[in-house]
Formats: sequence, structure tokens, C-alpha cells
Amino acid sequence: MKLRILGTAAGGGLPQWNCACPGCARARAAGPHAWRTQECLAVSVSPDAWYLVNASPDIRAQILAAPGLAPPDGTRHTPLRGVLLTDGELDHTAGLLALREGAALDLYAPPAALAALDGPFPLRTLLAPYGSARWHAVGSGPLLLDGGRLRVTAVPISDKRPRYASGSGAPGPWVVAYRFDDTATGTAAVYAPSLARWPDALDDALAGVGHLILDGTFWSEDEMARATGGRGSGARAMGHLPVDGPDGTLVRLLGRDGIRCFYTHLNNTNPLADRASPERGALAGTPVEVPSDGTEIEW
Ligand code: MLT
Ligand code: MN
Ligand code: ZN
Repeated sequence: MKLRILGTAAGGGLPQWNCACPGCARARAAGPHAWRTQECLAVSVSPDAWYLVNASPDIRAQILAAPGLAPPDGTRHTPLRGVLLTDGELDHTAGLLALREGAALDLYAPPAALAALDGPFPLRTLLAPYGSARWHAVGSGPLLLDGGRLRVTAVPISDKRPRYASGSGAPGPWVVAYRFDDTATGTAAVYAPSLARWPDALDDALAGVGHLILDGTFWSEDEMARATGGRGSGARAMGHLPVDGPDGTLVRLLGRDGIRCFYTHLNNTNPLADRASPERGALAGTPVEVPSDGTEIEW
């Protein structure tokens, strides 16, 4: 199985265009090699078939930077077969507008997200005349993609709605994670970029998994409030379990043998984005990493 972590930042990216908090100022001063684009993953179990998880507003640059996602010489045949959405958030879906030139893509999402993309953010209506999308609801049964070689299982995470759909009454789950199984080799990975809480179903989904890529939006519960002079919400209220603390995600990861863990969807306030921070230093020697954009993992 091959994973390419196309983007690793939360909505807004690092640096964010309208922000000069310490993290954004540091990234701006360091230059583009230190920047992070908005979270997105590509997964593949055979060379000419890739699936995206989420479609970030940065998707065009992310695809251009990925050699495996280029069309073969002299063709217009993308190796991109489809996109799996974890939810209907703008930073996970707006990139679909930039994929409209593509050949027919299969697009998968939980039913609540499909309803949001039919209503308050009418992406499905907007894309229909371009003929590039076949939409599918993901439910409790596994999906078999790439001729059955890639088994994808949605793991219900939470009912956190996108802000634009906060009034929607559609039944959940609104947010899912995905487990990927290479049915030929037995390798498996889990991608959970939006984790408002840690459901038992996530522990079950981690059985036998080699790699976990997880929501690392915030280091601490109150970091957004501090960065915005008290106006921001807490991490959990924004749909993101923080990394640190007795019921944060890090303690759960450290107790887990045999899984390599990667944090993604880092907000620009998160000290983990700074290689020189004490928080980042504390991860040395643990199985937990903070990948840069474009990190590829193959096993
Ligand atoms: C989130 O990850 O919580 C959302 O993307 C926030 C947003 O609306 O940008
Ligand atoms: Mn987000
Ligand atoms: Zn900032």
C-alpha cells in the first residue's frame, strides 16, 4: 500500500493568508519549504489507480507535486479513480470544483455530507453539467475499489456539522474515518483527520493496522481562544480532540505497539508545526510523527 500525504494543514493552511500569529509569522519568514497546504491524502494499492481522501482547496498544486498522480506521457488519462470524503467541510470538498476537468470520478461520502452538498453547499448541482462525478453514499458495509484489491471501510466518528450546515437535521454520522485494506497483501491503514471524540469503533478499526494518520489540529484545548484574544472556541467544540492532556490523542497513541502514527490537519496555532518547539521535541523516540506535505509511505 502506498500513501501520499498531500497536505497536512487545517483549513486556512500554514501560513494563513490573514494571520500573523507566531506560527504563521514563523512559516512566512522561513519561506515556502516550511509551508503546509490543506489536509488531503492519496492512497493506492496498484500503480495506475489512486484514490483521494478529501479534496482540499489546494488540490491542484498537491496533484502537480505528486509524480504518481501525473497522467502518462501524451495522454489525458489521470490515474485518479475517485475521492472519498470524510465529511462535507469546505476545506475537504472545495477542491472538487478544481477536478471538474477530469474523467468521470467516483465520489464517496457519508449520506449526511451528500445531503449538505445537495443543499446549503450545492456542489453536486454545480458539478452536474460537467459530467465528471458519480456520487455514492458510504454506509456500514465495506466498499471494494480498484477491482476488489482495495477494501475501504467507513468508521462513524461524530455528528459535527460544517458551519454552513449547522441547521441541518440530516441524521449522522456527519464525519467518518476510513480504514484501507490491501486485500492482496493484508496491509492496512486508517485515516481519521477529523476526530471530535474517540469512539470505540475507532479502536476496533485499528486492529492489525500498520499506519494511522490522525487529527492533530490542536495541541491544547484552549489554543485557538488564546490566539484570537478569547474569541475562538475550544478545540472539542470545533470538532477536534486536542493532542495533549489526559484525554487527548497522544496518550492513546503512545500505548499502541506496532502502529506508526502521523498527525495531520495541523492548525497554524499548533506548536507541533514548528520543528524546534519543545512539544515537537517530546515526540522524538515515540512512534508518533509530524509529516511534511508530500510525505510518502509504502509498505
Ligand atoms: C474544521 O476542521 O473544523 C473546519 O474545517 C473549520 C472550518 O470551517 O474551516
Ligand atoms: Mn478542517
Ligand atoms: Zn496564524
